Amino acid sequence: MTEPKKLFIKTYGCQMNVYDSERMAEAMGGQGYTQVDSPDDADMILLNTCHIREKAAEKVYSELGRYKGLKAEKPDLKIGVAGCVAQAEGQEIMRRQPLVDLVVGPQSYHRLPELEAKTREGKKALDTDFPEEDKFNHLKSRPKAKRGPTAFLTVQEGCDKFCAFCVVPYTRGAEVSRPSQRVMSEARDLVERGVREITLLGQNVNAYHGHTKGLAGLIRELSTIDGLERIRFTTSHPNDMDDELIAAHGECEKLMPYLHLPVQAGSDKILKRMNRSHTAEEYIRLIERLRNARPDLHMSGDFIVGFPEETEQDFQDTMALIEEVKYGSAFSFKYSERPGTPAAERPQVPENEKDDRLQRLQALLSQQQRDLQDAMVGRDVHVLFEKPGRLEGQMGGKSEYLHAVHVHAPDVQPGDLRRVRIESSSRNSLSGVLLG
Ligand code: 5AD
Ligand code: SF4
Repeated sequence: MTEPKKLFIKTYGCQMNVYDSERMAEAMGGQGYTQVDSPDDADMILLNTCHIREKAAEKVYSELGRYKGLKAEKPDLKIGVAGCVAQAEGQEIMRRQPLVDLVVGPQSYHRLPELEAKTREGKKALDTDFPEEDKFNHLKSRPKAKRGPTAFLTVQEGCDKFCAFCVVPYTRGAEVSRPSQRVMSEARDLVERGVREITLLGQNVNAYHGHTKGLAGLIRELSTIDGLERIRFTTSHPNDMDDELIAAHGECEKLMPYLHLPVQAGSDKILKRMNRSHTAEEYIRLIERLRNARPDLHMSGDFIVGFPEETEQDFQDTMALIEEVKYGSAFSFKYSERPGTPAAERPQVPENEKDDRLQRLQALLSQQQRDLQDAMVGRDVHVLFEKPGRLEGQMGGKSEYLHAVHVHAPDVQPGDLRRVRIESSSRNSLSGVLLG
């Protein structure tokens, strides 16, 4: 028997890349590769990259530079770049870093085995097409190995929204939904392998149209799978949050009361320039409707500070929106100029101004996050346990609101879903006791 070849994948960026990396590892399994945790004695290194902000893209080049020594020691080592930097920069990557053998865009992963074979013939391989066929359909189905209690499942990819700051419509292409039958069979397979919670992924997941009744229809159908206890989805656009999906938050027990719904900014002037196609008021009314359907809904969001021409007053409008919504968690970023996007052409906000606004915004968001977490003390939640904690006999998992919870529970297994009374709140997690 031949020795399995070793594949090291390093994943940057969003959860969709995490999912894609898993699928690429499986596809390469068919080529005799097993996945390893270190690049040191790998036969192939694959960087699954992110292009969303400048820093993310630059990290890829500095990481590639670090592999020079490895490649010198082992000339047979193949180095590949996948993901959104691959899509955006294509051939340029090989020019800038000649030790790269393979470049593959996010819509071409099913061609990875052929591309790898080409590199073994000593050639460079590049594929950044947007082929007609569904890459997931062509990737080998997942092998039956046992899985942890939570999993991501990509149901939609790409984006047609063209927010003025964002590269996603260019790197991931137009919106495409996977048919619901395929999603259902992948979900059943995951559940058979031990998964209890599935997070449906899409750049614009609530625009999903692979089911006649949209994302709400898919969620309701997934709810019928025995053994699947929890459903989440991310990321959504406010304009695609239809009545059916709002209603599902109130009616669908397995749909968790936590919603990531980015608004980016609170000033109507900036929202317009961002091409978001909604106002701050419309966003706030939407959250009211969602909270009417599900009063305990925890909100999460994304914010950008220092978008071109953002004034202090515009920034204050964002702070006011945050005060009104009260977020359970949030991600916030300084605006980063992305070549080829309309906002990159506009007058920029000075860096020190961006730093200052980000600091103030994050202070407010952290305070809200902490307040909402502290407010859980004394309440009963359900925890899906995932893995042992640091202390003897301790188990850790997540509540329905996605808070990390630790409990002394030596008999509890990963995958168990139990009721817990929360007793205390620390910086990043809650502690409690098992009930019953
Ligand atoms: N600069 C800063 N943040 C950005 N995002 C997307 N593009 C940019 C950019 N050019 C943020 C948005 C989006 C999240 C995934 O990344 O907040 O929701
Ligand atoms: Fe980018 Fe999201 Fe806007 Fe699409 S909706 S362009 S992915 S920020």
